[in-house]
Amino acid sequence: MFTIKNHLEVRNDHLIIGGVDTTELAKQYGTPLYVTNESRVIENFSAYRKAFPDADIYYAAKANGSFAILRVLAKQGAGADVFSYGELYIALLAGIPREKILFNGNSKTDFELQKAVELGVKVSVDSHDELHTLSKIAENAGKTAQIAFRVNPDVSPKTHPKIATGLSSSKFGIPSGEVVDIYSEASQLPGISPCGIHCHIGSQILDTSPFTEATHKMMDLVEKVVGLGIDLEFVDMGSGLGIPYKKGEKTPTPRDHANAILPLFNERTEALGISPKLILEPGRYIVGDTTILLTRVNTMKKAAKNFVGVDAGFNLLIRPTMYDSYHHAVVANKAASKPEETYTIVGPICETGDIFAKDRELPRIEKGDIIALLDAGAYGFSMSSQYNGRPRCAEVLVKDGDSDVIRSAEDVGDLMGKQKLPARLM
Ligand code: LLP
Repeated sequence: MFTIKNHLEVRNDHLIIGGVDTTELAKQYGTPLYVTNESRVIENFSAYRKAFPDADIYYAAKANGSFAILRVLAKQGAGADVFSYGELYIALLAGIPREKILFNGNSKTDFELQKAVELGVKVSVDSHDELHTLSKIAENAGKTAQIAFRVNPDVSPKTHPKIATGLSSSKFGIPSGEVVDIYSEASQLPGISPCGIHCHIGSQILDTSPFTEATHKMMDLVEKVVGLGIDLEFVDMGSGLGIPYKKGEKTPTPRDHANAILPLFNERTEALGISPKLILEPGRYIVGDTTILLTRVNTMKKAAKNFVGVDAGFNLLIRPTMYDSYHHAVVANKAASKPEETYTIVGPICETGDIFAKDRELPRIEKGDIIALLDAGAYGFSMSSQYNGRPRCAEVLVKDGDSDVIRSAEDVGDLMGKQKLPARLM
């Protein structure tokens, strides 16, 4: 037995997750199949909690909004960053307390604001327009909405441009120069209690200096807002800590993230004589490496490349297609075997971009082999679709040698879903 990456082990040439043989999982539940190691979710969450002992950790539900995973995190005391009424609904159902939920989003519907007010969760307000809508909704409901403003601190997170969210050109947040005015406006509005401040600069961040830069800028704003006489109960610094997708890649840890933020945060709040709660919103770090996607080899073809056609497509894991991201591939039933050939692993979708792994050195592959795509826990299933008439696959949770289905596979009936025919087409 040896460890291949983090919690993943190899026994008798087979890949093992959470004490369970992945080839057995493929047999028992079929493929494609998402498999999550519950203990690893808890380990990752605990690492964040240890690094930020006085902060509240609001798990970013968008990374993986599966009910059972939210439940595991709720039991660990996690809060949640939610970005839609759907995420809010499932987070509450999973037992995350409403006091530990922040409703984020740059384009919320009136219905979503209404629900946030009704359910009493904090709202991160993204524009003047939204502030006024929320004020009216809260006033009509006879309630007061606890709010933060999402600030755009204009910091480059040095990551993929599609997931940089705190640049001045991005669609998110209130420009720094308008922040003081909007807080003073908010403090006059009915139904609104400005009590926090929020930013999130991007995702898969591998250099911690942008976190420090964002903390500097946020604490300058905190000082100004406090100067207006506003009592800031929380400062939410978002998240974005990257994880190592490539084997052996060195990436910052939650402790490095803490070192980039905490000394400055503590020094500045102390100097101001305030003690707001620090909130972090990690998603990828908590779930990214906990999960693999198992997929079976349908067919082999030597053409422009040595193609391996598998039964999962980018409808199940879109990250490589969308961000050119790397996911390590392991032949799960030959996990200890020597690499012998160079392969390109592709899905069955009708697009050239449907490639999971390019030019990888792997043991000799044949039809029926099981490939595991690693680190598929964040923005994997949560970004899946039914494109090309492909029902979504099942999800299984493993722990200490046992496995449970946490989401059944869809079938063609689910493709029909809520579709209907107008009477004239009957
Ligand atoms: N807070 C807010 C407001 C966010 O928008 C996000 C992610 C997070 C927290 C969590 O960030 P994390 O710790 O996971 O980096 N689909 C892309 C990533 C999109 C991230 C969107 N926002 C990917 O697959 O790389």
